[in-house]
Amino acid sequence: MKHDPVTGLGYPATRPRRLRRDEATRRLVRENQLSVDDLIQPVFVIEGTDRTEAVPSMPGVERMSIDRVAAEAETLAGLGIPAMTLFPVTPDEAKSDDAAEAWNPQGLAQRAVRAIKSRVPEMAVITDVALDPFTRHGQDGLLDEAGYVANDITLEALVRQARSHAEAGADIVAPSDMMDGRVAAIRAALEADGYSETRILAYAAKYASAFYGPFRDAVGSAGNLGSGDKRTYQMDPGNGAEALREVGMDLAEGADMVMIKPGMPYLDVIRRVREHFDVPTFAYQVSGEYAMLNAAFEQGWLERRACVMEALLGFKRAGADAILTYFAREVAGWLADR
Ligand code: PBG
Repeated sequence: MKHDPVTGLGYPATRPRRLRRDEATRRLVRENQLSVDDLIQPVFVIEGTDRTEAVPSMPGVERMSIDRVAAEAETLAGLGIPAMTLFPVTPDEAKSDDAAEAWNPQGLAQRAVRAIKSRVPEMAVITDVALDPFTRHGQDGLLDEAGYVANDITLEALVRQARSHAEAGADIVAPSDMMDGRVAAIRAALEADGYSETRILAYAAKYASAFYGPFRDAVGSAGNLGSGDKRTYQMDPGNGAEALREVGMDLAEGADMVMIKPGMPYLDVIRRVREHFDVPTFAYQVSGEYAMLNAAFEQGWLERRACVMEALLGFKRAGADAILTYFAREVAGWLADR
């Protein structure tokens, strides 16, 4: 060891490794923690009873009939998971150009909400507000004569859908459609109809991402969408400052919580939103991120538990309050046996 000619000291002036030398110290100084309180489990809902279907591009994820979803809610609540979000897999014959199935009180999402809330009242149920599971073309909105996703007529449909979710007992409605003005329209309708307690989780910064592929397989909208894309309404992946404008608008329109989606490629956006607004900020680790990690786990190239925990901790460090992740149930189990 050389001595510093000025100070005469024979050691590094600071040793960050002191705080890393044993697990007890690492635990004491750790800045961020992942807790079961942060987890939201997405589930895919199908018709029928006592039925599940595997989703090939999402190993370990199953579509579930409503009775199974309600049983799953009980399991998740038992693990301490506070919330789940529902994605209905609409049969093709229920899809239409006007997406009317989206606000059918007997629709899959509406029935699933009622089943969960009657069996596990403490489970917060989040519903997705967007038309893609219900349109024949797989777009999130309604088309005009030119085939363009028309903003303002779509708003009326989204309002009907959100209202029907609130009526069914959804705790939180989550518009994921990216139409302009939808949060204001939904908030006004909920207030007018006596649902002032229904929270809005706005997918405020939702990018036109290639990472949604497995989800579209899971809900069966991929075939409908075909070679179409959602770039006239979902955000351009090159933009960061625009996310702040989107979040600002959604908050001004009455959103209670905002979400950034996808997750891992957009951690910078989570951080910027957290610092700029400091409001409840959620992250969505999307289907493609789940598929990608699982592919590596299956190959034996990455270690499952360690990588999942590290990826989710990354969301917390970036500034996320809660995380929608298909790993939620599994992670809750790991957190319990730590
Ligand atoms: C529907 C919706 C999508 C996702 C959540 N809600 C797909 C899309 O916008 O095409 C994607 C979730 C995921 O990939 O896990 N509007």
